[in-house]
Amino acid sequence: MDDGVKQLDLTVVWQSCALLVGVAAGRAIFGFLQGYWSEVASQGVAFDLRNTIYDKLQHLSFSYHDQAQTGKLMTRVTSDVEQVRQFVGVGLLQLASALTLLIGSAIILLRMNWQLALAALAVVPFIFAVLGTFIVRVRPRFGEIQRKLGALNTVLQENLAGAKVVHAFAAEPLESQRFTTANRALVAEWQGLIKVFSTSFPLIFFFSNLGTLLVFWLGGAKVITGQMTVGEIIAFNLYLSLLLMPIFILGGLAAGLSRAGASAGRLFEVMDAEIEVHDRPGALELGAVRGRVAFEDVHFRYPGMDKPVLQGVTFAAEPGETVAILGRTGSGKSTVINLIPRFYDVGQGRVTIDGHDVRDLTLDSLRRGIGLVHQDPVLFSGSIRDNIAYGRPDASDAEVEAAAIAAQAHDFISSLPEGYQSLVGERGSGLSGGQRQRIAIARALLVDPRILIFDDSTSAVDTATEQRIQAALKKLLVGRTAFVIAQRLSTARRASRIVVLDEGRVVANGRHEELLASSAIYCDIVTSQLMGDDEAAAAAAPDLDPDVNPVPNPNRVPNPSPDPAAAGGA
Ligand SMILES: Nc1ncnc2c1ncn2[C@@H]1O[C@H](COP(=O)(O)OP(=O)(O)OP(=O)(O)O)[C@@H](O)[C@H]1O
Ligand SMILES: [Mg+2]
Repeated sequence: MDDGVKQLDLTVVWQSCALLVGVAAGRAIFGFLQGYWSEVASQGVAFDLRNTIYDKLQHLSFSYHDQAQTGKLMTRVTSDVEQVRQFVGVGLLQLASALTLLIGSAIILLRMNWQLALAALAVVPFIFAVLGTFIVRVRPRFGEIQRKLGALNTVLQENLAGAKVVHAFAAEPLESQRFTTANRALVAEWQGLIKVFSTSFPLIFFFSNLGTLLVFWLGGAKVITGQMTVGEIIAFNLYLSLLLMPIFILGGLAAGLSRAGASAGRLFEVMDAEIEVHDRPGALELGAVRGRVAFEDVHFRYPGMDKPVLQGVTFAAEPGETVAILGRTGSGKSTVINLIPRFYDVGQGRVTIDGHDVRDLTLDSLRRGIGLVHQDPVLFSGSIRDNIAYGRPDASDAEVEAAAIAAQAHDFISSLPEGYQSLVGERGSGLSGGQRQRIAIARALLVDPRILIFDDSTSAVDTATEQRIQAALKKLLVGRTAFVIAQRLSTARRASRIVVLDEGRVVANGRHEELLASSAIYCDIVTSQLMGDDEAAAAAAPDLDPDVNPVPNPNRVPNPSPDPAAAGGA
């Protein structure tokens, strides 16, 4: 301004412009590199975070998943990681460049005219004070927003997973209302946040404009009295805007930092969550298993519950035995078998395999030694073959088929147009309950474990199929220890040992014939709970040999009551 425009010297103007173009070009190149590399780095950070959290989620104990909600965890793995990523990518670099610009401009201003600079900089502490309170106020709100988003996702996830139930009960209006409530809570949280934003930023602008005003007011006076030139005032004002701009950026970064900080806190909550069931230092590998499984005075309560579920459970399964666990619903049958692969750890007492406390074994080797069919088997999206080979992806087609044959699944699989390559939908949709169960049995058999656990695994198949499965299993179970929770009498009769649970205690332990003679509870279960077609009646009359004298089941006699009311008044 002073050397070119005021002196009417166009060469100086041209030279200055050329220099400016050069600087702008340099800035563009650095801007590109910064944008590119910061994005690459932030994607790398997100990649690592997602993997770390996923890994952690996989290792967290059952007790964690019992209380965690899927929608909320998914929000953390997706949305919270994204908040952190955005700040790490752009935010950190902007923070560094904003601080450099701020300090650099302040130094230049002070050197140009320290009095004027001090006057202009007087507004900066006020701006920082506003920013400080802003950060303190928004950070918890950002945390709350992520929580509300998690709640919204939980409603969504549950609704999608339970779509059939929702339709069956015509509960769409109720579900819409649940979603709207969660959605409204999220919007309300944002509105609260926007209020903080909209009160803080105008204040910041106000103080920065005040700075400019001071420069023109005090600087104008200096120009009039000849202490400064117009060019100097213009340059000074430009530097001042270079000083204020990073302050605005810092304001935006403060919001980003609060948001990323809140999300990072949520991520670390998962990463730092205690893994309750873990390998002890120096844990042993479970080598060749003989298969003696013993419960020694086991007490157990679910984490966070005050009522004990198991109280002094003691029994042993010898190698090769098939143990049927019976008892009323809620008596603790599933809980007992959950303790063998250490899905939970016992409170008191111990569970041993071949004399080793399961807590002294590595989780990996322990669980590899056990084949488990859950009460409510879960299949994964993919082909039937992949599902059966889940525990041994390298199994040959012949091995997969052999397991399917044993589980009585081969026939129905072969009848599908694409056989073993047929695709299973999410959680096994597209298959009947019984088909899912048989695939789950094949999946457990393929691992060829010494210890097999079936939790009510044949409840969804008809009696004839169940008997075929039992017959096929008979060969397979030779030399293996098996635990079977079943509702059918035939299963109990075939077992080498029956353990009856009642309210978390073993109330009977022995063979079918022994228990019929000695245990009132067992007799009660046989007559009132076990499904057994003709066998139930036969078993209820122990003096009759069912194989020789099949006694017809009175329930099977067609229309036993001539009273039409007994047939439901039809
Ligand atoms: N994850 C859990 N957290 C808290 N309590 C639980 C949990 N799972 C089961 N329970 C409780 O423990 C008790 C025993 O449950 P368990 O599942 O072992 O019964 P079960 O004998 O297998 O019943 P069913 O025949 O209905 O399958 C029940 O009272 C149940 O409410
Ligand atoms: Mg159960």
